[in-house]
This record gives sequence, C-alpha cells and structure tokens, in this order.
Amino acid sequence: MSVMSDTQSVYNYKIVRQFAVMTVIWGIVGMLVGVIVAAQLVWPELNFAPYLTFGRLRPLHTNAVIFAFGGSALFATSYYVVQRTCYTRIFCDKLAAFTFWGWQLVIVLAAVTLPLGMTSGKEYAELEWPIDILIAVVWVAYAVVFFGTIAKRKVGHIYVANWFYGAFIIAVALLHIVNSAEIPVSLLGMKSYSAYYGAQDAMVQWWYGHNAVGFFLTAGFLGMMYYFVPKQAGRPVYSYRLSVVHFWALIFTYMWAGPHHLHYTALPDWTQSVGMVFSLILLAPSWGGMINGIMTLSGAWHKLRDDPILKFLITSLSFYGMSTFEGPMMAIKTVNALSHYTDWTVGHVHSGALGWVAMVSIGAIYFLIPKLVGKEEMWSTKLVTTHFWIATIGVVLYIASMWISGVMQGLMWRAVNADGTLTYSFIESVKASYPFWAIRVLGGLMFLTGMLLMLYNVIKTMQGARMVNDAAVPAPAHH
Ligand code: HEM
Ligand code: HEM
Repeated sequence: MSVMSDTQSVYNYKIVRQFAVMTVIWGIVGMLVGVIVAAQLVWPELNFAPYLTFGRLRPLHTNAVIFAFGGSALFATSYYVVQRTCYTRIFCDKLAAFTFWGWQLVIVLAAVTLPLGMTSGKEYAELEWPIDILIAVVWVAYAVVFFGTIAKRKVGHIYVANWFYGAFIIAVALLHIVNSAEIPVSLLGMKSYSAYYGAQDAMVQWWYGHNAVGFFLTAGFLGMMYYFVPKQAGRPVYSYRLSVVHFWALIFTYMWAGPHHLHYTALPDWTQSVGMVFSLILLAPSWGGMINGIMTLSGAWHKLRDDPILKFLITSLSFYGMSTFEGPMMAIKTVNALSHYTDWTVGHVHSGALGWVAMVSIGAIYFLIPKLVGKEEMWSTKLVTTHFWIATIGVVLYIASMWISGVMQGLMWRAVNADGTLTYSFIESVKASYPFWAIRVLGGLMFLTGMLLMLYNVIKTMQGARMVNDAAVPAPAHH
C-alpha cells in the first residue's frame, strides 16, 4: 500500500513487519548456535576451530537468543501494541527505522566480535565498549519513539501492556549504562576494563544480570502477554486491578534479588540474605501475572482445542509459572548449595527462555504476520499446530534432562566417604552427564525444527501477499 498523505491516520506496520521477520531469522540463528554448543558438550571433537570453540560460541548463543531473537520480538510487538492501544501512528518513522537498522548492526557486530574472542567478560554484557555505546544510542532512540507515541495518544488511558513495555525500556537503559561503565584501552582491539572492581563489580554485574532477566526476559514479555492473550482469546484481561498491582510489586521486587546469583561468595552475607528474601517475595507478583493471563481464558477454554496460537500463549504462561516457582526455591541458600554450578541452573534458564520467552514470542509473531501482509491467517494452521507440539516436547526433553543431570551432579560433588574423602572425582560426574546432554541436543533440535517450520510458513504466507505498510487507525473505542 502506498504511503498516505496524512500519515497521522495510519499505523506504521512496516517497522513491525521488519522486526517480526527478523525475530524468526534470529531465532533460528541463535537456536542453531545453541544446538551446536549443546553438541560440543557431547562430542568435544566439534571444538575444531579456535573461533568456534564452546567458550566463544556460548556467549554468541546467549546474545543471539536474548538480544537478537528476544529483542526483535520485543521491538516488533511493542511498536505494534503501542500504536494500536494509543490509536496513533508511531512517533517519528525515521527514528523508528534507525532503531531497526541500529539494532541489526549491533547484532552483526556481536556475531563478528564474540567468535574473535573480544569480550568484556561480563555475562550477558560481553560486548565491548564501542558496541556498548551504539546499544545505548539505539536504546535511547527506542525510548523516544515509544514514549513519544504514548505522549501523542488519542485516548486518555494508557493500557497496562504499555506499562510493562515502558518499565522494560527504562530499566534496560539504566542497567546497560550503569553496568557497562568501563575504561576503554583500545579501539580496534575492542578492549576495556570495568569501572568497578572486586566484589562491587560482581554485585553490579548481577544487579544487571538478574534485572536483565526481570526486565528484558520478563517485564517486556509480560507486556506482550497482556496484549496478545486477551486479543487471541477474545476476552478482556481477567483482572485489570491485579495487572496494575502485580506490575508495581514486580518492578519493585526484582531490583533487590540480584545477590541470589552470588550465594556463598565474597559478597557480604547480609546482601545474600536480602537477595534470597526478595526472591521468595517475587513468587507472588510473578504468579499474579501468570494467573491473570491464564484466567483471561476462563469461559473460553474450548478455544484452546483448535487454536494453536492460543496454545503457544497459554503454554508459555504455564512455563512462566513453573520457572518463577523454581527460581525462588533455587534462591534459598541451602537449595542453591546444591543447584549452583550444575545443569539445574541451565534447566531453569531454559524453562524460562524456551518455555516462556520463546513460546510467547512465537505465539505473538504468528498473530502478527498475517495482519502485516494483508491475510486472514497463516498459510497453514496445521503447521502451526505441528510447531506447537514439536516445540513443547523439545522444551520438556531439554529441561527434564537438565533437572536430572543437575541434581545428579550436585549430589555427586557433595558425596563423601566415611573417611571424609570425595566419593567421586569431577570427571566421573562429567561422564555421568553425557546421556542427559545427548537428550538436550535432541530437545534443542526439535525446538529448532519447529522454528524452521515457522520460517517456511511465514515465507508461504508472505508469497504474493500485499505488504501492509500503513493500516487505517480506527476510531477510539469508548471505555
Ligand atoms: C534450540 C534451543 C536452544 C538450545 C539447544 C540451547 C542450548 C544451550 C546450551 C548448550 C547452553 C550452555 C549450557 C552450559 O554452559 O552448560 C545454553 C546456555 C544459555 N541459553 Fe540456550 N539454548 C536454546 C535456546 C535458548 C533461548 C531461546 C534462550 C533465551 C531466550 C536461551 C538462553 C540461554 C542462556 C541465558 C544461557 C546461559 C545459561 C547460564 O549461564 O546458566 N537459550 N543454551
Ligand atoms: C521469581 C522469579 C525468578 C527467580 C527468583 C529466579 C531465581 C534464580 C536463581 C536463584 C538462579 C540461580 C543462580 C545461581 O545459582 O547461579 C537463577 C538463574 C537464572 N535465571 Fe532465574 N529466577 C526467576 C525467574 C526466571 C525467569 C522467568 C527466567 C527467564 C526468562 C530466568 C532466567 C535465569 C537465568 C538466565 C539464570 C542464569 C544466570 C547465570 O548464571 O548465567 N529466571 N534464577
């Protein structure tokens, strides 16, 4: 569709489509690297080239899935939701286009520098200082576009999904800028040293790391959930009051829980206890969101039977509930003494990352794609259903195998003989883990296969379709 002269009365769907398509592509790339690192643990011979060793590819996997896949999903959906719920076109098309190309550049730079071994060494904040500056600039532009759109809304009310997206955008800016404070020592060598040191550095890093989970991997996706679950179910949010209460409780509580990543370290003991207590409290607001999402379906449960998009969305909420129950349990010091350093953590991560983050994003993207290309639905709904089952079985294989190997590792490491010597050597625990790592490769491969089916379905849906770059803004509904 050609650009209309009055751009104020049409939504900008082009920017949404660009990010939506890249979500699928980066999802495949990131998960492929995930499958490769999983396979490297089973077959160490796969670490054949220095640039492609486990140590270099692991951060590439985490950056690709969190920031390229998850990030693109958040950009796509937030730009769609903020326009639709504010009944107005996005604020400043050019700046929005800048966020798209700027974010893609960040991803490409990450894909080049991480295999080269350029890293700040901080988990989930590995990218070196010139890229950090680019991220900060793109993120501020994102904030201007998002809040600029809110400011020119045609309705008084700001729908709760936007609160979650807004909190995610502000918190990530704060986290990134504070944790990435560093002293550059070389431009081309991409080298810097952290502005913090010792225990403070660790504390800042895990304040960042945990809130990256809380705001990047949770608050933003809750924003997504609050729009797409009611839309797809055709019902209003179960309790609007609950959504507001758990919003404030969630963003307040997350900020204090970071030290649970540093139990039994040089961090002062009382900070570890504070982290543990706030993690336990976090169960309540997390489940508030889960219950609110799932109960939105009350009276419409039958829709789950033949709507695979709803299946993705509701299953994602179940995994969200599960991982936010598991997280507080793992934050208890005595439980953490067993789980820390083991595959249990990795299983927890992926029940959140694959079960919650990836599933809710996949559901939302399936919802969006047809609308962005002027179609009623995806090319094949059957294929979406197949994707759902293959992905669900994949996640279950992944997390179940990691639970077993994680608990097994923890128990083997602490087992002692009557004379006080260790029962098992470390390498024995590695050998015992192999079968479970092989099952994880299988689970990962299934999840990746689902993503490939999705790409095929998206291509087929887009073939010969009329791209909707601008869509008419309806008259605001009365509340
Ligand atoms: C096909 C799907 C996937 C596979 C096969 C996979 C595989 C892996 C493997 C093998 C590791 C390293 C574990 C270790 O060091 O022992 C890992 C780490 C990680 N992955 Fe994935 N992954 C997948 C999808 C995802 C997705 C979609 C996300 C996020 C949205 C994600 C986030 C992470 C994170 C955060 C870590 C670091 C965990 C930690 O440090 O404890 N993964 N993944
Ligand atoms: C109430 C909510 C949650 C709490 C209290 C919580 C708590 C924890 C705890 C205690 C650990 C282990 C720390 C360690 O031993 O090193 C952990 C690790 C992790 N969790 Fe959660 N979790 C929660 C929800 C989630 C969700 C929903 C996700 C993903 C979407 C997630 C992603 C992660 C990641 C990526 C790590 C690994 C960090 C690392 O060591 O690299 N968590 N979490």
